[in-house]
Amino acid sequence: MREPLRLGIAGLGTVGAGVLILLEEQQELLRQRCGRDLRVTAVSSRNRNKNRGVALPSNVIWCDDARDLAKSSEVDVVIELIGGAEGVARQLVESALDAGKHVVTANKALLALHGSQLAARAEKADRALCYEAAVGGGIPVIKAIREGLAANRFERVYGILNGTCNYILTKMEDTGADFETVLSEAQDLGYAEADPSFDVDGIDTAHKLSILASLAYGAHVDMSAVYIEGIRHVGAMDIQFAREFGYRIKLLGLARRTAHGIEQRVHPCMTPLGSPISEVGGVTNAVVTVGNYAGQSVFEGPGAGAGPTASAVIADIVDIARNQILPPFAAPSSQLEHARASPMELHQGAYYLRLTVLDQPGVMAGITAIMAEHGVSIDSIIQRGRAPGAGVPVVLITHDTEEARMNQVLTRLKGLKQVVETPVRIRIEKV
Ligand code: HSE
Repeated sequence: MREPLRLGIAGLGTVGAGVLILLEEQQELLRQRCGRDLRVTAVSSRNRNKNRGVALPSNVIWCDDARDLAKSSEVDVVIELIGGAEGVARQLVESALDAGKHVVTANKALLALHGSQLAARAEKADRALCYEAAVGGGIPVIKAIREGLAANRFERVYGILNGTCNYILTKMEDTGADFETVLSEAQDLGYAEADPSFDVDGIDTAHKLSILASLAYGAHVDMSAVYIEGIRHVGAMDIQFAREFGYRIKLLGLARRTAHGIEQRVHPCMTPLGSPISEVGGVTNAVVTVGNYAGQSVFEGPGAGAGPTASAVIADIVDIARNQILPPFAAPSSQLEHARASPMELHQGAYYLRLTVLDQPGVMAGITAIMAEHGVSIDSIIQRGRAPGAGVPVVLITHDTEEARMNQVLTRLKGLKQVVETPVRIRIEKV
């Protein structure tokens, strides 16, 4: 049997402890699959004495500074589970690669912001930089796109990439409660962070989307090219109206190549009821790829949690143990394209608009006139309630149009004195 692969784990939080547990419980299986032992030789964490529900292996080296793992002669693979795009996580990954160690990370922010230079560094050192756990938790979507679907050009890649947002939107639909109420309950239950902005403002989804887009389109990771909108403005009323029109609201990350470059966008979408993506509820994640030969593939599963994330981390370690070292993205770094970002203003699609307007004669005529002036065609309108002198909802669904036109329409509508609240716009995605 070959010599053991020696692992140094930085970060012993939920995922780090999950990795230790999986390595211990599946030791025999992994030995058989790798043809060698996977042995944790060094660890680093802020707190030595915390009860993690798993014993550390005997003789393990404890590093108070995670960056020391990069220097240790007892470590072949550094497993970075600290998180954050800068600071210790970045320094550790860079120095580990430069020191000739393989790196496995679950750090989507790091890859979204520095993925290209890290990939070049890994290739120069002839070492692996693996990150299956960074997108979709336990779903093996990185390997699926990079390896299983390598023969395809992708018409589009999209998905539910953030469990917190999907949980909140699902709960809003199930209970009729508003965003703030559900967020606060989710925080009490530990499903949402005390500072939820990375999740609910779409940034976490954008990190993950930029990685998927790079893999699918053979381009450098470009987080700055992602159009980002979160879910804070989605109202309980929008979720009800969506249902009436035959849709369910989901926060999606979507990427596709257009004539103007690569379009990457994150925003709430009206998805048709019954479509695979609309049926994914709770904290579950899903990714849909449409390849020109493979057709549509749907990958669904737990996007977070100790077990699923550890499963993805260890899949990467198994690859390294088997000497399966690939370029980190779709191709060697020198082959990746510096792609243009397709501007959001050129996006084409249908739109849902909810306006709160004073219940007065002529208001509807004013709204439709503005839309006609900007060449936006209306598919359906609903106006509910009767409240003379007060605000009532008017909901419009448009035919396909250009985002730039909708921006102009929204600016004009906001300026009408009978429109008494900020209009809500949600893009309709016929996925
Ligand atoms: N915060 C992420 C989510 C999980 O809510 O899906 C880790 O990527």
